[in-house]
Amino acid sequence: MNEITIRDAGTADIPALHGLIESAYRGEASRAGWTTEADLLDGQRTDPDDLADILADPKQDLLTAWRGDDLVGCVLIADRGEGTGYFGMLSISPTLQGGGLGRRLVDAAHRAMAERYGATRVRISVFPQRETLIAWYQRLGYRLTGDTLPFPYGNPRFGLPKRDDLYFVVMERELD
Ligand SMILES: CC(C)(COP(=O)(O)OP(=O)(O)OC[C@H]1O[C@@H](n2cnc3c(N)ncnc32)[C@H](O)[C@@H]1OP(=O)(O)O)[C@@H](O)C(=O)NCCC(=O)NCCS
Repeated sequence: MNEITIRDAGTADIPALHGLIESAYRGEASRAGWTTEADLLDGQRTDPDDLADILADPKQDLLTAWRGDDLVGCVLIADRGEGTGYFGMLSISPTLQGGGLGRRLVDAAHRAMAERYGATRVRISVFPQRETLIAWYQRLGYRLTGDTLPFPYGNPRFGLPKRDDLYFVVMERELD
């Protein structure tokens, strides 16, 4: 893979971000990767207004990974206060997955949350059905906390669930 550059997203990146995130999480395109939400949800993962809201929020940032002019990865980071960071929307182009880019973006997210938010721990939320993804996060140092969060049923902004029993399990790790 050519050299990868990681930088903060700007509003001009929203169309590319939207395309990347949808391709990683939803629909047939996402099945080219090794893990996807396509079996759990239809509809959208995000939309341009949602991404603009994130970029306008001082407590959230979107890091992007570029190979030349091509957006190949992104991750949302957020300051949840009291030394706690959160990351989500972690997306790598489906055809480039499995090459170490996801791990690299998670490392960049950890560094940015420590530097920008003073984070000493990170929490993430994952669908419990995604066992291979949970196993990967465990290899990245995350443990299941036992906490759960409800899925926001009734809000198509988060997608169209294919089942009525969705919820999230919360995982956490300390930052070095
Ligand atoms: C999750 C995601 C960001 C990972 O990106 P990636 O570039 O594939 O990540 P990496 O290449 O760094 O690591 C992939 C890991 O999965 C493992 N893996 C690869 N193929 C796999 C498979 N078929 N089954 C299980 N694990 C697999 C690799 O061994 C590697 O593990 P390691 O880091 O312990 O060696 C990417 O798959 C993605 O965008 N998925 C869709 C969106 C998503 O689900 N995001 C996370 C939701 S919270």
